[in-house]
Amino acid sequence: MNITLRQLKVFERVARRLSFTRAAEELYLTQPAVSMQIKQFEEMVGLPLFERLGKKIYLTQAGEEIYRISRNISVQLDEAEQLIEALKGTEGGKLVVAVASTVHYFAIRLLADFCRSYPKVQVSFKVTNRKGLLRLLEDNEADIVLMGQPPEDQDLLAEPFMENPLVVIAPPDHPLAGRRDIALEELKHETFLMREQGSGTRTSLERFLAEQGFNIANSMEMNTNGAIKQGVEVGLGLGIVSVHTVDRELEDGRVIILDVQSFPILRQWYIVQRAGKRPSIVSKEFADFVRKEGSRFVRVHLDGNKPMLNGELPAS
Ligand code: PGA
Repeated sequence: MNITLRQLKVFERVARRLSFTRAAEELYLTQPAVSMQIKQFEEMVGLPLFERLGKKIYLTQAGEEIYRISRNISVQLDEAEQLIEALKGTEGGKLVVAVASTVHYFAIRLLADFCRSYPKVQVSFKVTNRKGLLRLLEDNEADIVLMGQPPEDQDLLAEPFMENPLVVIAPPDHPLAGRRDIALEELKHETFLMREQGSGTRTSLERFLAEQGFNIANSMEMNTNGAIKQGVEVGLGLGIVSVHTVDRELEDGRVIILDVQSFPILRQWYIVQRAGKRPSIVSKEFADFVRKEGSRFVRVHLDGNKPMLNGELPAS
């Protein structure tokens, strides 16, 4: 068989997404170009690799087998690339960092500092929610991921590097502002601005509420921390977010943290990598930097529910 690496790559992407359209988008090709590559590939193999049922496509048995092999080949090609980069040293290496939407507030400062020491490293920085990050890991599309605790049943190496406290935020003129030790019950008539399904913040919040036996009566779903913060500022409701997302708003007095019992919800941030993936020198250096220096880039710390900005207590 005279299969080219390009055909293999196109086949692998279509098989992974089970969609010609999505594969074409992700590979920056037209759909007819993708169909042509697959047709030639199938002719060479001498068997159909996909079958169409209604609007969906599925892998045939031959397709499944070739998909398994093509995934191994692409992991090995990736390793070969990393090995060559390792031989070249950290100069000019590539680094794909993916972070949770909630992490990117401090991760961008961290990355800026790292890049000052490694100016020639070619960085790709991806920001998405927990679900998106797990998919990037599964697809081997990130060297290092910074996120909440990943599931244990996946082949991942996860190492906690910093606390991630979730707090209740409110507008500064909220009736409960300044009150101490607010019982969760007192929030039962509030509207909560919740992150979307697939967000790690949302999952841990749901777990916490179930443990507390507390039902949120009114909620509104928003798919970014930015929208939640703005929603809180303009009085749409209360938000439950990582304290790492609200440093500027706390500093400017645009939102406040309510001193609610059982808060903050304590979570951890993790450095996550695919088990079995050989890390490049630069990704090892980056993981080490996060491990040692990560907390330096967080601008707000908590004393109970009281925020301390840059180590200073706020004016009021
Ligand atoms: P997010 O955070 O998905 O809520 O942005 C990531 C995580 O907590 O794992």
